[in-house]
Amino acid sequence: MCGIVGYVGPDTGARPLDVVMEGLARLEYRGYDSAGVALVAGDEVYTQKRAGKLANLREALEGDTVPSAATAIGHTRWATHGGPTDENAHPHRGGADGKLAVVHNGIVENFHQLKQELLAQGVTFTSETDTEVAAQLLAAAFAESGDLTEAMRSVVNRLEGAFTLLAVHADAPDTVVAARRNSPLVVGLGEGENFLGSDVAAFIGYTKQAVELDQDQIVTITPTSHTVMNFDGTPAEGKPYEVTWDAAAAEKSGYDTFMEKEINDQPHAVGDTLLGRTDADGKLVLDELRIDEANLKDIDRITIVACGTAAYAGMVAKYAIEHWTRIPVEVSLAHEFRYCDPIVSDRTLVVSISQSGETADTAMAVRHARSLGALTVSVCNTHGATIPRESDAVLYTHAGPEIAVASTKAFLAQITACYVLGLYLAQLRGGTFADDARAVMAELHEVPDKIASLLTEMDRVKEIARFMADTRSVLFLGRNVGYPIAMEGALKLKELAYIHAEGFAAGELKHGPIALIEPGQPVFIVVPGPDTPNELHKKVVSNIQEIRARGARTLVIAQEGDEEVLPFADEVIRVPHTSPLLQPLLTVVPLQIFALHLSTAKGLDVDQPRNLAKSVTVE
Ligand code: AGP
Repeated sequence: MCGIVGYVGPDTGARPLDVVMEGLARLEYRGYDSAGVALVAGDEVYTQKRAGKLANLREALEGDTVPSAATAIGHTRWATHGGPTDENAHPHRGGADGKLAVVHNGIVENFHQLKQELLAQGVTFTSETDTEVAAQLLAAAFAESGDLTEAMRSVVNRLEGAFTLLAVHADAPDTVVAARRNSPLVVGLGEGENFLGSDVAAFIGYTKQAVELDQDQIVTITPTSHTVMNFDGTPAEGKPYEVTWDAAAAEKSGYDTFMEKEINDQPHAVGDTLLGRTDADGKLVLDELRIDEANLKDIDRITIVACGTAAYAGMVAKYAIEHWTRIPVEVSLAHEFRYCDPIVSDRTLVVSISQSGETADTAMAVRHARSLGALTVSVCNTHGATIPRESDAVLYTHAGPEIAVASTKAFLAQITACYVLGLYLAQLRGGTFADDARAVMAELHEVPDKIASLLTEMDRVKEIARFMADTRSVLFLGRNVGYPIAMEGALKLKELAYIHAEGFAAGELKHGPIALIEPGQPVFIVVPGPDTPNELHKKVVSNIQEIRARGARTLVIAQEGDEEVLPFADEVIRVPHTSPLLQPLLTVVPLQIFALHLSTAKGLDVDQPRNLAKSVTVE
């Protein structure tokens, strides 16, 4: 979720730097931990980059002699490979003469192999990033062809993963060349000047004439032209359009709220979290884990510590990790963990889950676990945060910055990362599920498209939410992996619409909560697929029957094709089929949409609900 800006104009001067710095400022909402610019000036490329916020970059520029230029690129980095340091900040240079500079958004999955090739050729690196590998490849390709567009084309055909790349070269002073795959890039058309951006916010202050690019396309901009080609070299046309958003809306990519934007970004959050986790043979590789395999093989207990939504991600992951690894998994609310005299040994793996990586309760739980001798792994969405820094190892989610206080895309990314960890452990320890890892990873790779498809089918859920704006109480039921989803659905409604909501294990109903059912009481029920083992589906259908018989208004989330729920459902919300353990990645989506739209119908602040903070840094 880095921010990218490119500019090429008619004259040398301060405008390129001004345009790029303003564009980066407009992209700050995306969250970042370092920033940098490159200017093509004379027969050199000038670069300046700093960890931290734009103010640090501005200070460095003000303290330096910055050359006049006609061409510039800029970048705000949300760290993926390599921590937020000056060295890892973009731009990265390529070539011994340093005449090429690159900025990049995304993840180059095969950068390890490519880096090894370059190292064998004697290339040296100054950073830990995948971007510097791309810079060196581009410099070598430019040295061969002398054409920056051709160099880009030859390199992008060797890259795997998701990337937006922008490159400049001192020997091509009035040109910026960019390429995109599974990552955003848009062209801005000016009068005698042209722009590039990771979204229109990058240049909306200068032009509203934009050009959309398709997947696997390269664009070359000069002050008076933009030329598009496909990665295979065939010419292409971008799709011109006029931006109708104002700057504020552009930060939300045209959505009304960050939460709505982030819910719709969930296919990327899951897909990007899966990137780079397998080698060319499909075997799981978790290099960043950096825990000795022998120690991992020796684990006899896993404890997950987290709070709120992150804890519900852990509750979902428990079912899957236990199923694949046969290691007992306990989920402990972080703020309870320290006070329950936990059973921890040096064969215990404590997995913390935290979007911010700064939640005090979770950080204290991790410190306590380490003091008891446990191995600690952080599942975190924020590079270089406190919790991953204080853990033995980290598995970063790649959901990108989550701005809305209510967690949505980070939640799905957390589940995905925990599944990858569980499959890795299963593969490492052998046993019956070692081979399943490939099959499950293959099915996980299909989930982003299923989420995207589901998101286009939410009109009825939005209508129900608006109709229920005056509701005073909503219950949520689920079983097995659907139980944490029921809890998460209730939490979303509490924190967004300030409505009493409660999630229950469906089997718990008859042990008390069914007394809450009265005529008209709305109840969401997360129904497992009919192919779920142990007749779980039938049992949940019975639960729906029990509450419907007592007058409940049953809002049923069921798989496509499940006809058994129809006689007892006042509303049926369909989700695509997927295997039982992966269903939470889909069944939570309608509940997120419901909470979002009910809160909106009540005129509440969806992104900044009352009393809440995005990161709870106090115990
Ligand atoms: C989620 O919608 C809430 N904002 C909250 O429960 C959050 O998940 C919890 O505070 C944990 O935050 P973390 O993931 O940053 O540690």
